[in-house]
Amino acid sequence: MSFDDLLADDGRVEPRDPMPDGYRRTLVRQIAQHAHSEIIGMQPEGNWISRAPSLRRKAILMAKVQDEAGHGLYLYAAAETLGVDRADLLDQLHTGRQKYSSIFNYPTLTWADVGAIGWLVDGAAIVNQVPLCRCSYGPYARAMVRICKEESFHQRQGFEILHTLSHGTPGQRAMAQDAVDRYWWPALMMFGPPDDDSPHSAQSMAWGIKRFSNDDLRQRFVDMTVPQAEALDLTLPDPEIRWNDERGHYDFGEVDFGELTEVIKGNGPCNRERMAHRLRAHEDGAWVREAAAAYAAKHAVPEEGAA
Ligand code: 3HC
Repeated sequence: MSFDDLLADDGRVEPRDPMPDGYRRTLVRQIAQHAHSEIIGMQPEGNWISRAPSLRRKAILMAKVQDEAGHGLYLYAAAETLGVDRADLLDQLHTGRQKYSSIFNYPTLTWADVGAIGWLVDGAAIVNQVPLCRCSYGPYARAMVRICKEESFHQRQGFEILHTLSHGTPGQRAMAQDAVDRYWWPALMMFGPPDDDSPHSAQSMAWGIKRFSNDDLRQRFVDMTVPQAEALDLTLPDPEIRWNDERGHYDFGEVDFGELTEVIKGNGPCNRERMAHRLRAHEDGAWVREAAAAYAAKHAVPEEGAA
């Protein structure tokens, strides 16, 4: 079946199927940057593993950060089905030729930030990733199915942290509110620039990679999150949030896309720190990669019919 017929049939494009170069390129771009985001995303929360307030919280946070590493590996594996090599993708990340999500360039100043990240960042990731389970490219869609199952646990544990704090002492409540104040707008920026400024959306939607536009998913996230904030008894830092009966959605204030542009350009609060940490971890892990490669070479199973 031709590529166009596959898309028309809402089918799945598989690695060996014919596909336009542009389709392959934009999938490599998006999947690689998604994987990079998962790996860099381990840093903000990892910063609190040694300072979690209880053994239970520590165990949950360790499991979540470990999940993010696994998400990165699923996604690098999905990208490699398009004929690229993860070492090269990581080099593109390390040399600034590929991106990772802006959200991970904000600091985690208190324990409540771990709750805000789980509730808001993983909540936004769920809204963005559930439609990707129906992405036209098979390996990416299948990776998303597994990732989304784990994201639900991530979002739930974040909500629970904030609920505990917002119903705790006045100091804990203030800490939870401060974290939500700092993470709300950057979470809205995760969905990307407004549709009118998105160079990729139209083509990605025509190719069945993106199922909804940036603004549609952002709106869906706001609609989902406002009632949850009420359940947490916390206030979202946007006085313009109000239900609009006519639209059937919550109205909300203007997102500062200038801030998103600056953070993407490298001028966010933690961009340099995140990349320095990433490069150090990559160098520290070189011996593991070399040992694994040496073991694989020693125990390589000769190809059928090879001499
Ligand atoms: N941070 C960094 N770069 C961003 C961005 C953001 N929040 N939003 C957009 N961009 C970049 C795009 O990558 C693109 O740059 P490029 O051409 O160099 O790749 C440019 O800005 C234009 O944006 P577009 O909206 O036109 O680009 P896309 O169509 O690719 O849409 C996207 C951007 C919505 C992020 C889309 O790529 C996507 O859905 N990606 C998959 C999901 C993903 O990567 N999520 C990131 C967070 S992962 C996460 O949260 C994991 C959880 O476990 C914590």
